[in-house]
Amino acid sequence: MVSSPIIVAVDKHDLNGALTLADGLDPKLCRLKVGKELFTICGPKVVQEFHQRGFEVFLDLKFHDIPNTTAQAVLSAADMGVWMVNLHASAGSKAMMLAKSRLQAGGYNTMLIAVTVLTSMSDSDLMELGIFSTAKDHVLKLATLTKNSGLDGVVCSAQEAQMLKQVLGQEFKLITPGIRLATDSADDQHRICTPKDALANGSDYLVIGRSITGANNPNEKLHLILNDFN
Ligand code: C5P
Repeated sequence: MVSSPIIVAVDKHDLNGALTLADGLDPKLCRLKVGKELFTICGPKVVQEFHQRGFEVFLDLKFHDIPNTTAQAVLSAADMGVWMVNLHASAGSKAMMLAKSRLQAGGYNTMLIAVTVLTSMSDSDLMELGIFSTAKDHVLKLATLTKNSGLDGVVCSAQEAQMLKQVLGQEFKLITPGIRLATDSADDQHRICTPKDALANGSDYLVIGRSITGANNPNEKLHLILNDFN
């Protein structure tokens, strides 16, 4: 079990690029996240390669479908032996409960979490979708639904972490992307936070992509962030 809270988002477009990045990182200091870009091009092979190198993998495919399809997709992920997998909370409580119960029935220990509101979305983006609550209120609503559906935690912005820990308790895991050092560019993220503030707010795991993968020396940047916690 890795004690580091950092999950590096390997948003690469090919297996070689992904493995070059992984080979430069230490599996004792971080986990790796495989998302849609990498998985669509490489499939389960990239997960196997990361496992062989000793990394625990968060398969971030954000499933969103009818309950049976969502639950079966979660089981397929668990069959690959991933540490964590996710679905969209907006798929609804039926999809979440079915996925969780099938994992339990199969004896898998893969963590199942839900995406609340993407950290790239602002209040006005939600309004465009006909959601007239603030991002913060909508996150709370979806996170509460997730907890009541028996899942292990949610993906949310670190800016919402304090509120969610207070309302949903310490055991409910918070996974926060949108992490940037003060000196980094925000890119397309809106609700961002520094690594140190994210932990102080109650985040359990920090998903960090471009801030590490875009650095000249990703491993050095990882060390820089970890040192900043002490
Ligand atoms: O490069 P950056 O640090 O912005 O990468 C963030 C990663 O976290 C991306 O892989 C993105 O897909 C993912 N993510 C996110 N917001 C969510 C869920 C996942 O940014 N709500």
